Amino acid sequence: SRSINLAVIPGDGIGPEVVAQGLKVLGAVLPQDVKLETKEFDFGAKRYHATGETLTDADTDALKRHDAILLGAIGDPSVPSGVLERGFLLKLRFLFDHHVNLRPSRLLPGVPTPLAGQPEIDFVVVREGTEGPYTGNGGTIRKGTPHEVATEVSVNTAFGVERVVRDAFARAQARPRKKLTLVHKNNVLAYAGHLWTDVFNRVAEEFPEVTTDYIHVDAATIYLVTDPARFDVIVTDNLFGDIITDLAAAVSGGIGVAASGNINPSREFPSMFEPVHGSAPDIAGQAKADPTATVLSVALLLRHLGYDAEAARIEDAVSADLAERGENSRTTDEIGDALAGRVAG
Ligand code: IPM
Ligand code: MN
Repeated sequence: SRSINLAVIPGDGIGPEVVAQGLKVLGAVLPQDVKLETKEFDFGAKRYHATGETLTDADTDALKRHDAILLGAIGDPSVPSGVLERGFLLKLRFLFDHHVNLRPSRLLPGVPTPLAGQPEIDFVVVREGTEGPYTGNGGTIRKGTPHEVATEVSVNTAFGVERVVRDAFARAQARPRKKLTLVHKNNVLAYAGHLWTDVFNRVAEEFPEVTTDYIHVDAATIYLVTDPARFDVIVTDNLFGDIITDLAAAVSGGIGVAASGNINPSREFPSMFEPVHGSAPDIAGQAKADPTATVLSVALLLRHLGYDAEAARIEDAVSADLAERGENSRTTDEIGDALAGRVAG
């Protein structure tokens, strides 16, 4: 019989609230014969204050034994900025080689957007997840003096670029429009920009059905606002991807509905699914957080594990719920109950 062995990291702030709803919907959508086992990990600010520790070797060993990871959010104002982010989140992405950071954007009917009219938005950003300026390859000299020099080297390997570009081509090929846009800055970034462009053009030859396009990242921010319909699949580096996916979320319903997957396509290590939003400490504990982004992340998780029909049921439930949502404000729990009810029935 089938089983899912899930590691759960509720994390900080609203993380535990939204994760509880994600698990509720997961439990409701899975067929009877699928055995769901969950194990919770207490990563985040509390653990850090109690022990001074972030991720330990014992943690990573335990996490490795799971099929996937569901994460709420990590980050707290009581800890200096970056410590928890680097110590847990980025460390997991690097250790488990989550090189495909998948961030879909769909503007669903009935969902408000700051854009004029109701543009067609249905694209997915494939953000590289293990390289670029996120590797910590940098340093500083003459620290604290007026002559301090800080470097933050963007690391781009042919291997790393090719595997994520190839993944993006395959995703584009599988979609009706079959279009892939490379977003970079090759007019300025002479070395990395050219590596990305060369690899992109070379891999394109293997995917003759996919229409290709290149846009500089600054121009891409304009098109995401003025003509988001032009995008189908976007592939880009880690930092550009970080920035444009916040913009993509803002135009397609906001971070309340933006889901993401940190994926290791080889399945050598568990992939990790999380809402794009952070821990939002300002609204934590007030039952105000929208769990939809986490629920949609559960759909990405299910699709990654091969439960396509269940993933689609969750996405349909979210579409239906959003279409009827209107102005009325519901609690985190009420939204979770509504979605769980829809996927079950
Ligand atoms: C994200 C976040 C992280 C990132 C931070 C919290 C390290 O902004 O998942 O997009 O920059 O990747
Ligand atoms: Mn981000």
